[in-house]
Amino acid sequence: MRTPPAAVVRFAQRPMVRLAQRLSSALGRASAVLTSPQARVLEVSGGVAPLMLLRAAVDTGLLEPLASGPLTAAGVAGRLDLHADTVHRVLRGLAVYGLTRLDRRGRFSLTPTGRHLLEDHPHSMAAWIRYSTSPMVLAGWARLPQTLRDGQPAFNAATGQTIWEYLAAHPEEEAGFARTMRELTLMASPLLVAAYPWPATGTVCDVGGGVGTMLAEVLRAHPSLRGMLVDQPGPLRGAGEYLAARGVAERVTAVEGNLFTGFDAPADLYLLKDVLHDWDDAQCRRILSTVRSAAPVGAKVLVLEWLQEPNRAEFPVSISDVMMLAQTEGRQRSAAEFFELASGAGFIRGRVIDSGAYGIVELVAV
Ligand SMILES: C[S@@+](CC[C@H](N)C(=O)[O-])C[C@H]1O[C@@H](n2cnc3c(N)ncnc32)[C@H](O)[C@@H]1O
Repeated sequence: MRTPPAAVVRFAQRPMVRLAQRLSSALGRASAVLTSPQARVLEVSGGVAPLMLLRAAVDTGLLEPLASGPLTAAGVAGRLDLHADTVHRVLRGLAVYGLTRLDRRGRFSLTPTGRHLLEDHPHSMAAWIRYSTSPMVLAGWARLPQTLRDGQPAFNAATGQTIWEYLAAHPEEEAGFARTMRELTLMASPLLVAAYPWPATGTVCDVGGGVGTMLAEVLRAHPSLRGMLVDQPGPLRGAGEYLAARGVAERVTAVEGNLFTGFDAPADLYLLKDVLHDWDDAQCRRILSTVRSAAPVGAKVLVLEWLQEPNRAEFPVSISDVMMLAQTEGRQRSAAEFFELASGAGFIRGRVIDSGAYGIVELVAV
């Protein structure tokens, strides 16, 4: 039997990803109906438990000794100099959420899900856990009741600065955030790369591209494309090493630039991946105008984001939306909302593509 080309296989996965997401949501709703409403409240309010168990595990490297095989809590505690009884209770708690397995003899092993918390897993989620449980992020969440009253961005009101100002002043956390974005973008990039008809030649500019994770995957799939990476000095500091490790550094020009004051990066295609969702409508209009000033007529902009229809509650987009509420000045939007924002900035609407993981909203510079 002939093996289908990789791109065809990846395209075939798209409906499957959507189906799995819908199925998981439907099962969640069915379980909510079957459970008593009070028990359901208890279950939802327990959300802090898995989050903080994950944080404790990542902070202490608790799961690392299990990478090479099953161990008792005493075995794990001995390797890490931790308190054995507490290790047993925390690993058992993690087993409830399917991250570890506990056998009758009291030995713990890692599940395939738990392996994603290992630091050197190629698709590690450890940085995401650190970021989402960091004091700065929790400060935004804690301010949410007041934001419900006054509508002010929670993080800004809680800390007196935007998350970007905070990160620029805390280089270690800035590097942690860049790693978090790398982890999240690597999850979505195979589907995004497969879903769009990328040009064979020309220049792709990743605006607010962090260390260039999305750009690197596009360039790896299209060896004749060149890249430009626009971001602030902090994320760009880590970009050279990252792009070299992905084998594309020689095809990328890094440009220090600002989403609001401009940058010099003429290209055929611009990416805005998870950038506009950080900003309010007025700021998005300014960002799109900045990109338009850099772009030649006919250039395309791809807004790569989870798309949120106003009256549809769906995981993960509706949860990402409230995360934006807690951490940024932004929100998740629908394709129609992006087109509306772009229309005054010198763009006409292009295609909307569902990659299965993210939406691709295409804008054309006129
Ligand atoms: C949510 S991250 C997305 C990173 C990347 N596009 C990805 O999806 O992996 C937002 C990016 O916008 C950048 N950013 C924030 N404010 C900026 C500004 N004023 N000018 C340029 N970049 C900015 C941040 O440094 C960060 O890399």
